[in-house]
Amino acid sequence: MPFIPMQEILEGKCVDKKVKVRGWVYRKREGKETIFLLLRDSSGVMQCTVKKESSAYADAKKIMIESSLSLEGTVKEDKRAPGGYEVLTDKISIIGLAEPFPIAKDQSEEFLRDVRHLWLRSRRMNLIMKVRSQVLSFADEYFRQQKFVEVSPPMFVTSAVEGGSTLFGLKYFDQNMYLTQSAQLYLEILIYSLEKVYCVAPSFRAEKSRTIRHLTEYWHIEAEQAFADMDDLMRLEEDLLTHVCKRTAGDCKSEFEELGADLSKIASIKSPFPRVTYTDGIEKLRAKGFKTKWGEDLGYDEEKALAEEVGKPFFMYDYPTEIKAFYCKTYQDHPEIAMSTDMLVPRIGEISTGGAREDDKDNLIAKIKKMGLKEEDYDWYVDLRRYGTVPHIGFGMGLERLLAWMLDLENVIDAIPFPRTTRRFRP
Ligand code: 4AD
Ligand code: MG
Repeated sequence: MPFIPMQEILEGKCVDKKVKVRGWVYRKREGKETIFLLLRDSSGVMQCTVKKESSAYADAKKIMIESSLSLEGTVKEDKRAPGGYEVLTDKISIIGLAEPFPIAKDQSEEFLRDVRHLWLRSRRMNLIMKVRSQVLSFADEYFRQQKFVEVSPPMFVTSAVEGGSTLFGLKYFDQNMYLTQSAQLYLEILIYSLEKVYCVAPSFRAEKSRTIRHLTEYWHIEAEQAFADMDDLMRLEEDLLTHVCKRTAGDCKSEFEELGADLSKIASIKSPFPRVTYTDGIEKLRAKGFKTKWGEDLGYDEEKALAEEVGKPFFMYDYPTEIKAFYCKTYQDHPEIAMSTDMLVPRIGEISTGGAREDDKDNLIAKIKKMGLKEEDYDWYVDLRRYGTVPHIGFGMGLERLLAWMLDLENVIDAIPFPRTTRRFRP
């Protein structure tokens, strides 16, 4: 008899049939005549009852939670069981008897993060990881439908993308190198052959900020497109998010329900998104009592306040050149304004940054110098403007911030299996 996934039993496909299942003991409760085991596998959690007269009773008695086992029995419909079905157990074979499990009810978030290697077994993390996987596949699906080519950038790099202050340095044999902050510059290389490219890869930030939205290693969805402008960029980003939200709402209903996340929020996402200029944003903020001046970067509080007002994902665009990276293209008549846009969402604020890239060689060199960067660090990047330059755009979206917004998570830490922050780097 083959083992069957618990999900199939919970879907009512096996009523009154003999089944064989395997997994781990999630909970255990002992009644007078019966032991109730909640058994979990990757697909679900199901109740198995072991009666005193069953030959499995002695084994059930000694089992600790998180022990692994296989079990045979008959499926019964029972409204009192979680999920509406249970297995009346005839036989248990213990595979790995567990020692007392350190995680019990009502433990602090801090403790659960210390034992992340065990907490990942929880139903909550199981569901988040499944949604994460689906969101990635729907992003993939969108890019491929739009004929983007997936590419693989390096993680070891020789120069900064987003400024030196968040750069992780490392010894590469006897040379100083860095962990990449963004694949952008490499994606830009690849558009000269493939035109539309994307990647999903880790990015690293030596980010001292301890907030609900900062990791030192996060997963970055990035895309770059040749022969495109700011309108194309915003359309690309909003259509990507709309696609991901629509597909996730259709496919991950039960996960959202069980996690207590608001499905209607993502089901209702529709292109086009509102577009607000940075200048209007500053005015809105000042009307709300913020002291922010034109030219200053927006912090978390400012972004949150603006996003609250809009109530759904939107674009802020046309930022001051001063606060943006060296590669940003500026308006010819307004060099003080950069063609750059952030996507903001309620509660989290910024989830993506994108823009048009400086495509003129001389402007780019001037910008590199002005920002005090070393020209030789960017020689190959300048070459792209030397040989057949084209107007192009691109963006990067943080996967964990996206998930934190979609799933109403309190912190991006819960959107990634092995979070790295200033204080956490194990397991
Ligand atoms: O805004 P950022 O720094 O932009 C770039 O890296 C561009 N080069 C991307 C591009 O155009 N290809 O980072 C992009 C996004 C942010 O909007 C945010 O969602 C996420 O990456 N991000 C972080 N997520 C978690 N922890 C951090 N420390 C993050 N830093 C950025
Ligand atoms: Mg940004």
